[in-house]
Amino acid sequence: MKRTQTAEVNFDSKYPSTHVAEDDVRFIKDENGLDYIEIENRFATAKLALQGGHVMLWQPKHTSEPVLWLSKQSRFEPGRSIRGGIPLCWPWFGAHPTDSSLCMHGFARVTPFTVIDVGQMNNGYTRVILQMTKTENAQRQLSYPYTLVLTIEIGSTLSIKLATTNRASQPFFMGEAFHTYFNVGDIEAVTITGLEQTEYADKLLDYFRGTEEKELTFHNEFDRVYVSTKSDVVIHDEKYKRKITLSKRGSNTTVVWTPWEKKAHQMADMPKDDSWRHMVCVETANAMENLVMINPGYTHVLAVEYVVDEL
Ligand code: BG6
Repeated sequence: MKRTQTAEVNFDSKYPSTHVAEDDVRFIKDENGLDYIEIENRFATAKLALQGGHVMLWQPKHTSEPVLWLSKQSRFEPGRSIRGGIPLCWPWFGAHPTDSSLCMHGFARVTPFTVIDVGQMNNGYTRVILQMTKTENAQRQLSYPYTLVLTIEIGSTLSIKLATTNRASQPFFMGEAFHTYFNVGDIEAVTITGLEQTEYADKLLDYFRGTEEKELTFHNEFDRVYVSTKSDVVIHDEKYKRKITLSKRGSNTTVVWTPWEKKAHQMADMPKDDSWRHMVCVETANAMENLVMINPGYTHVLAVEYVVDEL
């Protein structure tokens, strides 16, 4: 944890923003009033929704398929989370610990963010800095004063940082996740490494506790929360002939979820076709016994970087 000074935003990137590259960035609004930022720089194409600070699309130029999976049936409406891309779970992961009437995975993913800065970095990447706005809905669910700042650096790699600053006079606990949906060639041809010998809670077996023996492969619905792990994770995709490396910081939990056909077809915002075969969520998180306690005046940063290489 870092002590913040008076500044609202913790600029810890080694590449300071130089100028807004207007040709690379477009701000658009849809018919429902939602705002988006489209980015096309020399390394990648990306699209962000300001509601939820949600990265919807990221495709580096060196890959033939988007890295993120986005549901064709996602609803783009105020107050509704987008299915796919990178939803932000904050300030809790899963169900609220004491009040089940509050929304799953916290309210950040349905709360509008404002733009603090959009600029081109010295290395040609585009950096977007967003801050969650204070809404009545958010205030009702978390009354402590805080700031939540999301920094996204878009290029041939994608880096995201979520900085939570406690502006209250007492400590607070929170859970969080980058709930990232990865686009894969076929879930049954995917292997995930980096979670071997790690303790998990299996949500499909009433949080049964076990230790993962080997690398992960998928032949059924899968929903496990891996605790007390700082390890990088690699998604090996035999079909798309690529691997995606997730390097994280400020995270002690990794969640792996894929719904399989029955559950996917029960979800209103997932298509009734075989799209579920093309997604796996690998979530960089702090959850269960890894909740974060932030002291007054301190900032906690959850960060991840995604790198895509040929297999
Ligand atoms: C995962 C959970 O993180 O998110 C799953 O482990 C859950 O249990 C999934 O089904 C999707 O959640 P939601 O709220 O976006 O439908």
